[in-house]
Amino acid sequence: MCGIVGYIGKRQAFPIVLEGLKRLEYRGYDSAGIALYDGSDILLSKTKGKVSALEDKANNEMSLKGNLAIGHTRWATHGVPNDVNSHPHYSNSGDLVIIHNGIIENYASIKEELIKRGYTFQSDTDTEVLINLIEDVKKKEKVKLGKAVQIALNQVVGAYAIAVFDKNKPNEIVVAKLGSPLAIGVGEDEFFIASDASPFLEYTKKAIYLEDEEMAVVRLNKKIKIRKIKNDELAETYIQELKINLEQIVKGGYDHFMLKEIYEQPTAIKDTYRGRLLVKEGIIRMAGIDDHLEKFLNANRVIIVACGTSWHAGLVAEYIFENLARIPVEVEYASEFRYRNPVITSKDVVIAISQSGETADTLAAIKLAKQNGAFVFGVCNVVGSTIARETHAGAYTHAGPEIGVASTKAFTTQITVLTLIALKLAKESGAMSKSDFQYHLQELELIPGKVEKALESDKHILEVAKKYKDSKNCLYLGRGYNFPVALEGALKLKEISYIHAEGYPAAEMKHGPIALIDEQMPVFVIATKKGHYEKVVSNVQEIKARSGKIIGIVTQGDKDVKAIADHIIEVPETLECLTPLLTTIPLQLLSYHIAVLLNKNVDQPRNLAKSVTVE
Ligand code: AGP
Repeated sequence: MCGIVGYIGKRQAFPIVLEGLKRLEYRGYDSAGIALYDGSDILLSKTKGKVSALEDKANNEMSLKGNLAIGHTRWATHGVPNDVNSHPHYSNSGDLVIIHNGIIENYASIKEELIKRGYTFQSDTDTEVLINLIEDVKKKEKVKLGKAVQIALNQVVGAYAIAVFDKNKPNEIVVAKLGSPLAIGVGEDEFFIASDASPFLEYTKKAIYLEDEEMAVVRLNKKIKIRKIKNDELAETYIQELKINLEQIVKGGYDHFMLKEIYEQPTAIKDTYRGRLLVKEGIIRMAGIDDHLEKFLNANRVIIVACGTSWHAGLVAEYIFENLARIPVEVEYASEFRYRNPVITSKDVVIAISQSGETADTLAAIKLAKQNGAFVFGVCNVVGSTIARETHAGAYTHAGPEIGVASTKAFTTQITVLTLIALKLAKESGAMSKSDFQYHLQELELIPGKVEKALESDKHILEVAKKYKDSKNCLYLGRGYNFPVALEGALKLKEISYIHAEGYPAAEMKHGPIALIDEQMPVFVIATKKGHYEKVVSNVQEIKARSGKIIGIVTQGDKDVKAIADHIIEVPETLECLTPLLTTIPLQLLSYHIAVLLNKNVDQPRNLAKSVTVE
């Protein structure tokens, strides 16, 4: 999983590609490189580290003038992150150069063949094998670059979004896609290539998203023609008008994207229910559900597949669906589901949840479910993403771009969409009375204001963070709807502060984890008024009796937990099923502050990437 950027046109290509790579660093940031055509030759600069390191290196070692360039920011799959394994990669002749996001699975056998034919390799990457295969085909078959790419891609197994150019034909870039995203920005006498539209938004709002197994020769002064890689058939060239703004993807005055995204949640939740939650009319309107209502109502069960934070949103949905709509739900890690030969029938509805819409495991689970005849519904944030296209129907979360690697607003907007679906099904199936349904609609509409209120505790949360920033371990406890919030709280802390944390259902404590409790152990307990409150208070007592440090996430005005806890953080009162939308806020802020206090890279934590497009 990597970010790719390319430019060909009338402007200086280097700054466009460099800036584009910076915007795509959420896709990987262990090395970066740019290949620039300066009018007579290809100049290449690449380095281990971030795009800023590449900027310094390129400034020192090459001229930055030229109107054609391709660049790459990497998240290593084959070969350790170092200068040599960084992209772009040359072919043996030095004529061709490539950037690649994905994995060529059969690269080893191709490499062996190429070595027999006299090719040599500098790096350990599958990508260098691919560019030499393309060169070999081009020479053997005496074909143009586009054709050579097509023939070569028909010989590889794996996933790719690639951009290739030939220094002897510097008026074109050949692009192709299978499994990894690739967008082409269409300007006036200029084209942009990128993993998503963010690198070219200030230049053009016109974009073509390649489908899987499609390729194009992007040539100056020519209309783009898209072809099927398999059989050379022409495919439809659909130019979309993008509605996204650049301001939406820059930090907007916040120190980190994560903080900006935490604070965007009131708006993001409102945007997610806008036009769907019609309180006055007493209805929920969702085209993706309305058009397939029978599928949902007649389903034997709903299976939710997702990874990471999206999986946690799925767990919250399990409680909501079963409690409100009385529909049986199973929640599966997509990575397990795809390999455990699950029993799936045409009476199952599968809901796939994914912020990026590109997660490889979730995609594979969707494909498996479809093969077995299930109806597959997607809940995605990224419009036009692969999962959004691969599912039979779906609902977008409308959270806007989420850049911070740690998911925040994606989680709360996923819960919002899933709550809307559950409520709609509850009403349509008769599981919920009209008045109860109306009450839920009213309460859901109030959530953005209550999230704003929860955000007001930020300063107090910073003080709490200062007290626990040096902890080595933390426990997160919750029950019912808030058990998944405990898991999510622990995940947030782990991924950005590197402190070991675990989430547990509060009542499970006594079956083992209680042995960990001593005066060194901070325990974050979600203990909102509604939902097993008394039971959770008893669990809090048990921790206190063993000298654990207690930080309670409680309903405004709480007295019982306050009396026992070391600290409390209040959230407004709401319906029990909506509490995760509020209790998750202080936990996000806590993790954020702890990571900042520890001087960690909040937006780009080590070893992670925003969308995990590898297994
Ligand atoms: C959450 O903070 C993560 N970084 C990660 O767990 C993420 O939720 C997971 O990789 C799934 O991503 P998706 O929602 O884009 O499919």
